[in-house]
Amino acid sequence: MSDERVSAEHFRSARWFAANDLRGSGHRGRAGQMGYSPKEYRGKPVIGILNTWSDISPCHQHFKTRVDDVKRGVLQAGGFPIELPAISLSEPFQKPSTMMYRNLLALETEELLRSYPVDGVVLMGGCDKTVPALVMGAISMDLPTIFVCAGPMIRGHYRGKTMGSGSDSWKYWADRRAGLISEDEWETIQQSINRSPGTCMTMGTASTMSALTETLGLTLPGFSSVPAVDSQHIRLCSESGRTIVEATWLDRKPSKILSRESYLDAVTALMALGGSTNAVIHLIAMASRGGIDLSLDDFNDIAEKTPVIANIQPIGTYLMDDFYSSGGILAALNRISGMLHPDRPTINGKTLRENFAGADVFDNDVVKTLEDPVGDRGGLVVLRGNLAPEGAVIKPHAAEAHLREHVGPALVFDSYDEMNEAVNRDDLEVSPDTILVLRNVGPVGGPGMPEWGMLPVPKRLLAAGVRDMVRISDARMSGTSYGACVLHVSPESYVGGPLAIVQNGDRIKLSVASRELSLLVSDEEIAARRAKWTAPRPRFERGYGAIYSSQVTQAHQGCDFTFLERGPATPEPEIH
Ligand code: FES
Repeated sequence: MSDERVSAEHFRSARWFAANDLRGSGHRGRAGQMGYSPKEYRGKPVIGILNTWSDISPCHQHFKTRVDDVKRGVLQAGGFPIELPAISLSEPFQKPSTMMYRNLLALETEELLRSYPVDGVVLMGGCDKTVPALVMGAISMDLPTIFVCAGPMIRGHYRGKTMGSGSDSWKYWADRRAGLISEDEWETIQQSINRSPGTCMTMGTASTMSALTETLGLTLPGFSSVPAVDSQHIRLCSESGRTIVEATWLDRKPSKILSRESYLDAVTALMALGGSTNAVIHLIAMASRGGIDLSLDDFNDIAEKTPVIANIQPIGTYLMDDFYSSGGILAALNRISGMLHPDRPTINGKTLRENFAGADVFDNDVVKTLEDPVGDRGGLVVLRGNLAPEGAVIKPHAAEAHLREHVGPALVFDSYDEMNEAVNRDDLEVSPDTILVLRNVGPVGGPGMPEWGMLPVPKRLLAAGVRDMVRISDARMSGTSYGACVLHVSPESYVGGPLAIVQNGDRIKLSVASRELSLLVSDEEIAARRAKWTAPRPRFERGYGAIYSSQVTQAHQGCDFTFLERGPATPEPEIH
């Protein structure tokens, strides 16, 4: 990366503040109204800080004050910080799905940066979709950008046992439905898991996407593993502020940092970490924003040669706090350095290799060795077949081993409510061999691919001790979930994908070894059913939902909006 210092008159913000005309003096006058004299910003880079704090985002609670640490760093380095609040995408509360709003935050990010006098950017996110959304918008705008990770919350405790976000909720909820724990116990467990600000402390989507953003080169070294309440988190916030000022003077923008090699390395890290299935969709969308091709085949190719080394829930034993104290992401990247392209630039001006140089693993049971991994190849596997012509995803290490090669009869549900009612019935006709199918829950049908892909094991099987079975849907699942869940079936049923014509009792074949997902029904029968299929009514006829439904792409394409994918540059705004 060529680091050439730019002059202050070339900053975007100079178009607002330096112009010697009525509009320029108007901008200076209005800045004065807020108490800023021209010497506070004249000749300095203006740093936009996109803060996704809100009163309803528990994972980002600390951003309300942590933004002041970022500003402190910006001011120390001679920049001028302006905080720009952006939609928080709070995973626990936002309905029908934060995924439906990922592209809205991406669009908001891009347009906030375009429409205001911003020269460099600090993105403050962490809770699941905030990470790809902020990065996607910043890639499209292509201003020097650094990411501040919210960081994981501290670990949960219940009666002497360590409790992980999501993963243990699902596990104890299954016990609750099986009648093994009381209502009071269940409530206490819920209150024992979430003990501090910060993101889910398993290797869920938040921890995964933060680690991958660091692997791409957009954070300070080690930031993605630091717990939200650790004082090191505060220090890295101010350091991020100082770093982005320097990076802005040197015009270190995403297009100079991100390459196909960066994304291949992010996929390698995803596999080694045993990370979230959601990352498949997000990485494809992020790469596409920068005009970089990344396909499902890249994921399968890299899965073939990358062992899973992070022994972290939901596929492993430990939590993010253990990961951090065992060396964190830098030690993990150092351990897999032979599989990476580490001589690439990052936002602090050093290469990825320089950033992880000397990072040691302190506990080989948390970050396993390449010779003794958590699992051999195939952390995430892409399946194809007549049931998923454009692909589907499974996390084999999160499934019971005997289910990875399975043929069974389908039990089909057309909606979440129908499924939810059925799985709690004592007379449901189901066996451990049954394959549960949930459809109409994809990008358009969900809408927004809600995280319903870990369909509940039916109550009568739970009571018989069954804890896993094959489940197939066009939904996603939480990064903290587990089980033999085939997800992201593409194209989705709501737009006529093959899941739409599956009937109860049809035999379905799942083979992780041969990467196959097939409906064992004759081609003639499939064609006859297709001829009878009629498209359902659109989910939305107005508002954001109508834009979303008409523009969202399918899972294998990243679920971006067609009009936001790569394309001709959007002009800078006229300033009159
Ligand atoms: Fe925010 Fe899990 S709910 S990261």
